[in-house]
Amino acid sequence: MQNVLVTGGAGFIGSNFVRYLLGVEPDIRIINLDALTYSGSLENLKELPRSDRHIFVKGDICDPGLVAKLLQEYEIDTVVHFAAETHVDRSILDPGQFIQTNIVGTTTLLETVRRYWMNEPGMENAIKRFHHISTDEVFGSLAPDEPAWTEESPYDPHSPYAASKAASDHLVRAYGHTYGLPYTLTNCTNNYGPYQYPEKLIPLVILNALEGKPLPVYGDGRQIRDWLHVEDHCEAIYLVLKHGLAGGSYHIGGANQLTNIEIIEAICEILDERLPSSPHKPHRQLIQFVTDRPGHDRRYALDFHKIERDLDWKPRHTIRNGLRDTVDWYLAHPDWVAGILKKKEYQEWLGKNYTR
Ligand code: NAD
Ligand code: DAU
Repeated sequence: MQNVLVTGGAGFIGSNFVRYLLGVEPDIRIINLDALTYSGSLENLKELPRSDRHIFVKGDICDPGLVAKLLQEYEIDTVVHFAAETHVDRSILDPGQFIQTNIVGTTTLLETVRRYWMNEPGMENAIKRFHHISTDEVFGSLAPDEPAWTEESPYDPHSPYAASKAASDHLVRAYGHTYGLPYTLTNCTNNYGPYQYPEKLIPLVILNALEGKPLPVYGDGRQIRDWLHVEDHCEAIYLVLKHGLAGGSYHIGGANQLTNIEIIEAICEILDERLPSSPHKPHRQLIQFVTDRPGHDRRYALDFHKIERDLDWKPRHTIRNGLRDTVDWYLAHPDWVAGILKKKEYQEWLGKNYTR
């Protein structure tokens, strides 16, 4: 792993991963390809350690000419593919871009990488890896008492987002099976932590609560998600890149299964503690039940024994400490927050989604 192409490295998990990798691998060179869609921002890449080892390129994974040029110019041996459309609610309102980025974009990347690694003199014998980042949502929805999904569970995606991610997973495996592409794939549970775009539940609740706005709970609020701190996710991806077997997939989970209402109440309690003189205290009074998400999955959970056993990984953050740190991060970064709140795109999204 010397010259790494990270796609989507200006988004939430991608930017945390770039920061993590520069911290643990001093000699690495990262080429960060990101289209800077609404959820990507150079603000997420400020104050990187060893920033001279990081090269940012604004561009689209659907552009084969650009991808081919980067692979060749920087002699890429490792690809870590985060770039995607990622928000379930947006996929329900407008699925087209999810098909384009998640399916067409991933195929473009796979095909361009395959050609480069197969045809470039010297590359056929180099150690190479294509790592694809995926989600637990490809497996469907669990009842409260059902066991968590393993790496062998069948795919059953429900939302346009989940279906587009499932398609991309199938394509990655097909390239491994058909062309021998040395890939690894990870499915992981709901991430939270610094730099998450506030369309997702945890940062949305934090920012709305700070402004004294309603905290929207879809349906009965009893849906269950397993929450994973983004730093734990980054460490797991790194271990899979270093020691994971090509042609394999690994589940990454947080061991923190909570209902949405429990998460929202926990955030409110932390804010009450941190902001004792807030006029919005107690923040739980802001909770408001709203129309449910269409086709809302009831529960996600991953069995991650394989990565624990084979790569000696387990999550380090408890949800209580992880949430406290996350609330503190948003409180300590008012400029980052203000930059998003003042964006027309963000305000329009809130108007569109919450008047649905
Ligand atoms: P995000 O929306 O914060 O970031 C996505 C990034 O991809 C943005 O920087 C965006 O500009 C970039 N991008 C989008 N389309 C692009 C294109 N065509 N070309 C180049 N760049 C493009 O998303 P995230 O939460 O950081 O998710 C990253 C990956 O992790 C995704 O593949 C997602 O499916 C997966 N994932 C996320 C979670 C989660 O809880 N957030 C959980 C499991 C898996
Ligand atoms: O499970 C992994 C997935 O987690 C990732 O693949 C996705 O990219 C990521 O967006 C996330 O999907 P979810 O739909 O689970 O995350 P979200 O933060 O949108 O919602 C979490 C839960 O909270 C879900 O049950 C819906 C609910 N919710 C969400 C919002 C935005 C609300 O009740 N109110 C809200 O306003």
